[in-house]
Amino acid sequence: MNVYEKQYRKLLAKGYAAWAGEDFLRAKTQQEKIFHWLSFNNHLPQPGAPVLEMGCGNGAMASQSLAERGYSVWGVDFSETAIRWAENHFYQARLSAHFIVGNVCHIGQCEDAKFEFIIDGSCLHCLIEDERNLFFTEVKRLLKPGGRFVISSMCGTPRLDNDMNAYDPVRYHLLKEGKPWRTLKPLENLINEIQEEYFNVLATRVNNNAWWDHATIVCTVNGSLEGS
Ligand SMILES: C[S@@+](CC[C@H](N)C(=O)[O-])C[C@H]1O[C@@H](n2cnc3c(N)ncnc32)[C@H](O)[C@@H]1O
Repeated sequence: MNVYEKQYRKLLAKGYAAWAGEDFLRAKTQQEKIFHWLSFNNHLPQPGAPVLEMGCGNGAMASQSLAERGYSVWGVDFSETAIRWAENHFYQARLSAHFIVGNVCHIGQCEDAKFEFIIDGSCLHCLIEDERNLFFTEVKRLLKPGGRFVISSMCGTPRLDNDMNAYDPVRYHLLKEGKPWRTLKPLENLINEIQEEYFNVLATRVNNNAWWDHATIVCTVNGSLEGS
C-alpha cells in the first residue's frame, strides 16, 4: 500500500477533515486568502469553466473552494480512500465534481486542452526528480491556451533542526527514513525549473512559516497568452 493511501486511512479513522489533520483550519483559512488574491488579480476563469486539482486528496481544500465558486471541478489523486472520501464529502455538502483515482504524471482519463485552470493541490512538492517533468508535461497537455496553472509548493530551505538534518541541499530533497520524500527548493530554483519547463510566471506569493516557506506561483504555458 502506498504511503498516501495509508495516511488517508489513518486520517479518516481519526475523524480529521483533510490531509492537513489538526492543522486543517489554519490551512483552509490560508487557502481562502490565496483564492481571494487569485480572484482579485483576475487569475480565476469564469464560473462554470472546467478546472482541475492535481493531488486533490479528499477534495476539502481547493476542489471544494472551486466547486463553491461554481466551477466544473475535476480532481485526481493516487489514493482510492481519498477519492471515495471526496465523493462522499461532496455528496453530503451537495456539491458536484468528477474525482478520479490516478497518477498526476499521466491522467489517461482526460483529453487534451480540457481545462481553463489547473491547480496543484500541494502535490508537486511530493514529486521527486523525473516525476516532476512528467507532471509539468501533463499540465501542458491538459491546459487550454491562455489558461492559468497555479502551483502550491513548499519552498526555501528547512528551518527546524530535524528537517535540517534530513535535507539533501544538492538534490533539494527532504528525506524520510533515508529516502527522498519531498522536493524542497529555494524559490529562485523552483522558478527556474518552472521556466525551463516552458511556463511563464505571472505572479508569486510566498508565505513564511517557522518550518519552511510555501509559494503560490501563477503561470501560463509559454506563448499561450494570446489566446486568453
Ligand atoms: C500534501 S497532500 C495535499 C492533498 C490535498 N490537495 C489537500 O490540500 O488536502 C498531496 C496529495 O497529492 C497526492 N499525490 C502525491 N503524488 C501523487 C501522484 N503521483 N499522483 C496523484 N496524486 C498524488 C497524495 O495522495 C496527496 O493527497
